[in-house]
Amino acid sequence: MTCRIAVLPGDGIGPEVIREAVRVVEAVGAATGIAFDFTEAPIGGAAVEATGDPLPPETEQACLAAGAILLGAVGGPRWDREPAARRPETGLLRLRKAVGAYANLRPVRVHRAMAGRGPLRPEVVGTGIDVLIVRELTGGLYYGERGLQQEPFGERAYDTMVYTTPEIERIVRMAFQLARGRRRRVVSVDKSNVLETSRLWRRVTEAVAEEFGDVELEHMLVDNAAMQLVRNPGRFDVLVTENTFGDILSDLAAALCGSLGLLPSASLGLPGRPPLFEPVHGSAPDIAGRGIANPLAAIASAALMLRYAFGLEREARAVEDAIDEVLAYGPWTPDIAPPGAPVAGTEEVGRAVALKVRERLAPAPLEPVDAPLQVAFWDPVEPADPAPPGEGYPGGTAGTTGETPPAAVPGSSLSAAAAPAASGPGVAGDNLAVSWIAGDHGFRPVLPDEPDPAAPGVAPVAPPPAGATSSGHRCSHRTRHPAGRRAESKARTRAGAGSLPGAGKGA
Ligand code: IPM
Ligand code: MG
Repeated sequence: MTCRIAVLPGDGIGPEVIREAVRVVEAVGAATGIAFDFTEAPIGGAAVEATGDPLPPETEQACLAAGAILLGAVGGPRWDREPAARRPETGLLRLRKAVGAYANLRPVRVHRAMAGRGPLRPEVVGTGIDVLIVRELTGGLYYGERGLQQEPFGERAYDTMVYTTPEIERIVRMAFQLARGRRRRVVSVDKSNVLETSRLWRRVTEAVAEEFGDVELEHMLVDNAAMQLVRNPGRFDVLVTENTFGDILSDLAAALCGSLGLLPSASLGLPGRPPLFEPVHGSAPDIAGRGIANPLAAIASAALMLRYAFGLEREARAVEDAIDEVLAYGPWTPDIAPPGAPVAGTEEVGRAVALKVRERLAPAPLEPVDAPLQVAFWDPVEPADPAPPGEGYPGGTAGTTGETPPAAVPGSSLSAAAAPAASGPGVAGDNLAVSWIAGDHGFRPVLPDEPDPAAPGVAPVAPPPAGATSSGHRCSHRTRHPAGRRAESKARTRAGAGSLPGAGKGA
């Protein structure tokens, strides 16, 4: 099977973060042998510059020929004065419509490691937030009739919000179905005290709810929903709403994560059309080109792509776990770095995630390296509480080794018995060494043909010496993952404007 991906970097920080997302998908391919085929095509301002059209026909064709679309961001001040037809955002809206992507899923998850790093107090973020925002994406104000007219007194502009019963039904049904796989609670957000579309939304939602007696439904006005998201985010499970409200509330919810740079999205739609995956953040022109943008939202979007477009659940999990690990131990881009911690660039973070993904999916023997390695640990100001089992790494404990082992990797040969020796994260900046340095006991996963150290009669792996947990510890061994040097041979087609037809198909 070849997974064909149309890659649309777009504008601003789009190309920087998408490069890292592609790097991580390539790491999945290198570790598993799954073939990914990338076709790059212009969209947004980049496409306007190249062709005058924010969604050139070649780009649309490349997207429709792919199994999934991975998009960076569109827009920037440079195109602010362009007429609607030449605005970068118009290209994105046309693409969403072309692929019928009516259901925009925006999972908002706050990792424990991020508690206290966002604008909300840790006690508000609490023991974790897990909200799935389901935003209607191809209707409402974004697509209603609009106009600008000259009047004697000046200009008159209008946009119209239109929804039909089937449009509401399908998105609300999707929300209820998703709630069944979660905590079975749906909050439907509207403005039914004012808007006719919202009153229809509420009626249709109630009718759909009849089919889902096992899921609890609550209606909430959008202004109240904004307040509740900030005051008590833990009360939300699935939040379903129309296009514009969803746009606004999802940015707000992203702030709960500590950074807009963490929120991914998946836009699913009509059967047979490719789903679209994009980070929720925009093109962030103020930091574009500086190599400091957070690539984690784009990488998390790629994880959603692996899951929803290609059914690669184990691989999606590996990427999400790797992101959790990076959130807890670094490297961190400036937007999420804990106070006093070293900051890293976009590429460094992307490489760290890619390496961890590869380690999770294809653990292999690590070669000892003779040269001693000087390891500089970052000592956190305040260590966070350890995460409960199954929630990944605890936060803010970079520099302490041997306390909490990495979670066992499902489906891999990384055994729980070997895990204690594997814990040794905390070296922000040294991607290779970050995970697997453990004092004099360089970690080595259990090979399939070796006796399991957890099995009776086999000596357990020795824990790292006490000194290994202190700051500035000097390791006498460095381990290297041979897969890190494996050549990557994924087909990659770069197509410029006008040269795409056919190229999108890939191998
Ligand atoms: C988003 C963005 C887009 C939207 C813009 C770029 C058109 O803000 O995906 O949230 O409003 O849908
Ligand atoms: Mg938005």
